[in-house]
Amino acid sequence: MSIIQKQLRTAFGAAIRDAYSIDADPLLATTGTDKFGDYQCNAAMAIAKQLKLRPRDVAEKIKSCVDLAGMAEKLEIAGPGFINIHLSSAWLATKLNQIAADPRLGIEKTANPQRVVIDYPGINVAKEMHIGHLRPSNIGDAIARIIEFTGETVIRQNHIGDWGTAFGMLLAYMQEDAGKNDAALAQIDQFYKAAKQRFDSDPAFADEARATVVRLQAGGADELARWRKIVDISRHHMLEVLHLMSVQITQADERGESFYNPMLADVVAQLRAKGVAEESEGAIVVWVKPFETPLIIQKRDGGFGYGTTDLAALRFRTTELKADRLVYVTDNRQRQHFLQFTDAGRRAGWFGNAGYDHVMFGTILGPDGKPFKTKSGESVKLKEVLIEAIDRARAIVDAKNPELPDDQRSAIARSVGIGGVKYFDLNKDRLTDYVFDWDSMLATEGNTAPYLQYAYARTQSIIRKSGVEVPPSAQITLGAPEEITLAKHILRLGDVVESVAKELKPHVLCTYLYELATRFSGFFEACPVIKSEEPLRSSRLALCAVTARTLATGLDLLGIEHPEQM
Ligand code: ARG
Repeated sequence: MSIIQKQLRTAFGAAIRDAYSIDADPLLATTGTDKFGDYQCNAAMAIAKQLKLRPRDVAEKIKSCVDLAGMAEKLEIAGPGFINIHLSSAWLATKLNQIAADPRLGIEKTANPQRVVIDYPGINVAKEMHIGHLRPSNIGDAIARIIEFTGETVIRQNHIGDWGTAFGMLLAYMQEDAGKNDAALAQIDQFYKAAKQRFDSDPAFADEARATVVRLQAGGADELARWRKIVDISRHHMLEVLHLMSVQITQADERGESFYNPMLADVVAQLRAKGVAEESEGAIVVWVKPFETPLIIQKRDGGFGYGTTDLAALRFRTTELKADRLVYVTDNRQRQHFLQFTDAGRRAGWFGNAGYDHVMFGTILGPDGKPFKTKSGESVKLKEVLIEAIDRARAIVDAKNPELPDDQRSAIARSVGIGGVKYFDLNKDRLTDYVFDWDSMLATEGNTAPYLQYAYARTQSIIRKSGVEVPPSAQITLGAPEEITLAKHILRLGDVVESVAKELKPHVLCTYLYELATRFSGFFEACPVIKSEEPLRSSRLALCAVTARTLATGLDLLGIEHPEQM
């Protein structure tokens, strides 16, 4: 929670207690427009209803009881009984000076940390990463960073698809020719496609593929050794691409589908014993309303499925990992799967008291408005997209900053290119589909990463030009309206982080940062910094420095780099 909200809550909570001897939530909210002040206390309506009084009278009473100790310039009652709070600039300045001296910008960690398991990006191995992996990696990572920042204990789980029928096809195909066993990932990708075609058209091959899965799942030494090799090659590629994207996933976070294999028979047995699962046409299934197809947890041939594994993982996470909250990040086409297996898990009692969120997202589209594919209809390789982003950013950096040394320009290009792709993906409501558009994501104007990165670099350049280290003792005073609106916005970061950690919508943080950069630019245009006389000069430099730290903190939480110079 932001410092502002926290203090207002305490003050209004006490006022309500004084006035009516009850404990009520002060129902604080930010106002939409400056006209109505900065915050509102909306408790009067609820209290009036409860105590059968007139809301405006309640508002008057709260207003007369509240002691804001210099926080507010004025309080106004509006509408049915809103109390609008106009903060005082002297108080804002004091708070700003306080947070400027704090590495966490005044945002406290939660007092009782929860254990939050975040399941992302869950890549299916034996294929090169493609554009479809951008969103789970990127959105999952931002959410993990934000929740971690609030002080919770985050446990990342990369639920890779490293098991199942696809491996039967692949191993059976590669078995046909010893040379294929030493394949690199790009070839495995080709093999996978060829194997799939064979599987669909050649019944004898399909039988062999199925028999291979059975041998693999039964622990056949040869199959396991060859399977491990494919997983190793894939992991190497996966971690390389995730690293290029600055996604904080390591091998230690990996717990793939194969890990749960030994638990699946027991999962099915338990679900049957609890009456959650039943037999249907030779298979074991769970019916979940209102779906017309059940969740199959054991196929007629004895094989287990994606859902069985997810149920085993759910039980493992609440019992072994002691999760208090489970967060899963996948595309919205998996909605039914998640509704079904979580319903089964709940009925089996495997959730315990853990909270649950399915963070879904839409599809990335090509210029034609259809799911993004190459011209020949192939999937777009993620690594190629990232490298193209860096190349395109490099051209922009070269044009803007030809005087910088070559290696510095490369580093900036990497931050801007990767940041551009990531931010474009994060800055809209994640449920919507979007069209992948290079020009918009690398634009230096508008709600983009390059714009925010430029704003950050500008703060650094002003501080460099001033020739002084901003002394920690520099006191900020707020006079000009542009200084005041900037200060108010900086002080809101805590509220935004809290809301994103709860609602899991990273675009809200993007909107906040864009607004911050815009207000900074308004301040910078209206208020001379270096050319001002002391003590204004130091005050404004300190305001630049705290703006910079707020921008940097926000970008860090999104996993986006911010070069010192651009
Ligand atoms: N491997 C899955 C896919 O590519 C995503 C896994 C998501 N996590 C999970 N526990 N189901 O669609």
